[in-house]
Amino acid sequence: MYRAFYKLRLNPFEITPDPSFLFPTPRHREALATLYYGVRAHKGFIVITGEVGTGKTLLVRSALQLLQRTNIASACVFNPSLSPLEFVRYIAGDFGLSVGGKAKDEVILALNAYLRQRHEKRLITLLVVDEAHHLSPELLEEVRLLTNLETAQQKLLQIVLAGQPELDQTLDSWELRQLKQRIMLRCQLEPLGQNETAGYIQRRLHIAGLPKNTTLFSHAAMAMVFKHSRGIPRLINTVCENALLSGYAHCAPIITPDIVEEAGRDLRLGVITPNVTAQLPKEEAELFRAVKTLLELHDYLREMKSAEAETDIRLTREIPRA
Ligand SMILES: Nc1ncnc2c1ncn2[C@@H]1O[C@H](COP(=O)(O)OP(=O)(O)O)[C@@H](O)[C@H]1O
Ligand SMILES: [Mg+2]
Repeated sequence: MYRAFYKLRLNPFEITPDPSFLFPTPRHREALATLYYGVRAHKGFIVITGEVGTGKTLLVRSALQLLQRTNIASACVFNPSLSPLEFVRYIAGDFGLSVGGKAKDEVILALNAYLRQRHEKRLITLLVVDEAHHLSPELLEEVRLLTNLETAQQKLLQIVLAGQPELDQTLDSWELRQLKQRIMLRCQLEPLGQNETAGYIQRRLHIAGLPKNTTLFSHAAMAMVFKHSRGIPRLINTVCENALLSGYAHCAPIITPDIVEEAGRDLRLGVITPNVTAQLPKEEAELFRAVKTLLELHDYLREMKSAEAETDIRLTREIPRA
């Protein structure tokens, strides 16, 4: 909508992770190098963590794009809420093996044979699990078993897990110590600092077609974006996108701090309702949810009742008695 007005070819703040927009902060660059060289050097098992929206999926996609130039075969699990059988079948299927209807042991055998074949040709095979903090203990055990596929010298399958910081905590647990010992490389993404946020905004705008040496967001506006987004790239995108829409609506040639402030306020980014249930033990959380549902039902019934009463009053007023 605002593209023609601001003379942009592309939408600069698309929310989908597109490697061509990568802004390499030192941490993102280090994480990308870790992924790329870790996989190329057969490190076996790599874990990348970071808060929601810090760029994990973008990094994984960027690494895959680089690695695909090197004849690598990869399977990517983007939603790891699967049963162990579905998980291994999905991976084998993504590698192009036909394993429909096969039992888990058979699928693992087929995978093993496939990995060995590739290994003999000196080809690298990679499994990526994104959103890996959702992996159940059962699936983490499957991952551990997959790290067992190896020759005397090398792991046959390179594995990258990317997930939110809960993944680090899970992997630090006593039950998973065996898996943890196999992690060869670990890296963490952080939100951007204020200067990085400004660099990030500029880079995205220039990739989207803004001529070099021109600015669309004033310095103070970019500082305001940092304030509202706390340097989290996904939030930077949302705030900037809304600021551009609002700037366009006001025919503003440049985005000022006021425009960003308004966009940030409308998005209510600073307002976070604490997730009470996340801090409770499982049974108490279930009880909490049940009580909440009952209270909501109670409110709903009360509203229905007063609405009914109102209709009754209106009807008795509108229909004249005979
Ligand atoms: N270093 C970066 N350079 C450019 N864009 C980034 C960067 N980090 C994150 N983003 C953008 O922020 C948004 C959220 O990133 P994403 O990879 O989906 O986060 P996560 O997977 O950690 O939740 C995406 O639009 C992505 O393109
Ligand atoms: Mg992601």
